[in-house]
Amino acid sequence: MNACRLVVCRDSDALAARAADYVIDCSREAVQQRGRFTLVLTGGATPEAMYRLLGKLPRRDAMPWCETDVFVGDERFVPYGDSRSNFGMAERVVLSQVPLPPSQAFPMPTDEPTAEAAAEKYAARLAQFFPQEAREGRPPCFDLVLLGLGEDGHTASLFPGAAALQVEDAWVTWSPPGPLPPPVDRITMTYPVLNAARHVAFLAAGERKAVALQSVLEANPSRNERPAAGVKPIDGTLTWFVDEAAAKLLSRRV
Ligand code: 6PG
Repeated sequence: MNACRLVVCRDSDALAARAADYVIDCSREAVQQRGRFTLVLTGGATPEAMYRLLGKLPRRDAMPWCETDVFVGDERFVPYGDSRSNFGMAERVVLSQVPLPPSQAFPMPTDEPTAEAAAEKYAARLAQFFPQEAREGRPPCFDLVLLGLGEDGHTASLFPGAAALQVEDAWVTWSPPGPLPPPVDRITMTYPVLNAARHVAFLAAGERKAVALQSVLEANPSRNERPAAGVKPIDGTLTWFVDEAAAKLLSRRV
């Protein structure tokens, strides 16, 4: 695994700008090398400011939207239009503002009868998009996976102690509600997929994340204890974009 890079920004607005520029950098690298950019969005509130920046000038036109395919790393099992939907938030804040062809947006299918069925359907959709990997039984390599950090150290919808943490033979799984709101079933990409990415970038802002961030970056916890610690890209890069408030307990800044 490559070394982890820590980027400490003065506040959440500066974090949003740095992370947005990083997304653009990754998109340009991917399109230059492979002609496409596969992006996995994260949910939660932290990325919203970054999404807004990507949805307006000047950054909107710096992104190769026509060569971009947008996925989501986890989803609440709620209807598309529900205010708690991760992809719904991204749709409102950025995807509705940019020239991304609808056929290149891949929300998780929360209109399935159960979260388990939704996970199976999304995994099948990913297998269609990555047929060679599916045939060869190896996880897809997304160009950039964005992730958040919960106060309990969860990421995506991989919660401490959850069965989803142990899933190694599926690209997508489901989870009952975690300890933090909203109390709904979840669908989530699994560690094999997250760790196969070319680039993984966490966004963590605010004092509420300081304990979990210090634990994940400096205490070497198990993935069962702090699931974000289980994100260790095998060949890819790992970058943490944090603000000063979240970084306040860190003993080192580099
Ligand atoms: C979700 C997210 C989740 C999120 C963290 C941080 O569905 O809520 O995918 O993993 O990234 O809980 O959320 P905040 O950014 O709202 O603190």
